[in-house]
Amino acid sequence: MTELKDRIDRSKLPCHIAIIMDGNGRWAKERGSHRIFGHQQGVTAVKDTVEGAGELGVKYLTLYAFSKENWCRPKEEIDALMELMVSTINSETETLIKNNVRLLVIGDVQTLPLSVVEKLNEVIGITRNNSGLTLIVALSYSARWEIADAARRIAEDVLSGKIDKDSIDHEIFSDYLLTNGIPDPELLIRTSGEYRLSNFLLWQIAYTEMYFSPTYWPDFRKEHLYNAIIDFQLRERRFGKTSEQLKCD
Ligand code: IPE
Ligand code: IPE
Ligand code: MG
Repeated sequence: MTELKDRIDRSKLPCHIAIIMDGNGRWAKERGSHRIFGHQQGVTAVKDTVEGAGELGVKYLTLYAFSKENWCRPKEEIDALMELMVSTINSETETLIKNNVRLLVIGDVQTLPLSVVEKLNEVIGITRNNSGLTLIVALSYSARWEIADAARRIAEDVLSGKIDKDSIDHEIFSDYLLTNGIPDPELLIRTSGEYRLSNFLLWQIAYTEMYFSPTYWPDFRKEHLYNAIIDFQLRERRFGKTSEQLKCD
């Protein structure tokens, strides 16, 4: 474990890691348990991953916890997930403070139950000046919704004369997204062996490195995170250039 961690080059850490935490239901099913048990066990993985990222000095960690599409799940499962959200934030507030973690949320927050919104706002307020890891939880999130919402607000600002339509470029567009001010993820991890994005951060991941892990989310631990980072560090990110050009830079 220590050896694995030592193989990480601290000078080349991804500044922002995003994770699609998938596989809770299958993990539970394989054990003859209810899907909700899988979500509950997923909390241990969240805690370990947040701790691991913070210890390494990763600046931003975004966790996809609930998509807009997830509202289509059975009510019983949705209710359990919302309750789990509140109880986890409650029990983890002290740890977030102790570890200097700043909490943020991205998503269509208005669609969340009031109990969740109030708890989130409370802890976002308490941790706002923390300067260690920024933990961004994607809740009731959909990238297409986020992009369409940004386009609508840009249109409003053009109509009111606040901005000139000819000034709109990708940087201005990014300012209207929920991730305004947050650097794009350099590494995206999806667990559970699925190879898709499920409407996550479509704009922001234009040049993100993808890492797919077969591990179901409840089994994901720091060592899995370390492996993903080591894999990331072995890659050559060319951003359109040739390998030879990069060697001259
Ligand atoms: C991810 O696990 C958690 C959420 C989407 C809330 P799943 O619940 O999607 O687990 P699988 O994919 O059914 O195994
Ligand atoms: C994506 O997982 C959303 C989260 C991890 C919160 P899903 O399990 O909902 O994705 P699909 O529907 O299988 O693509
Ligand atoms: Mg899933």
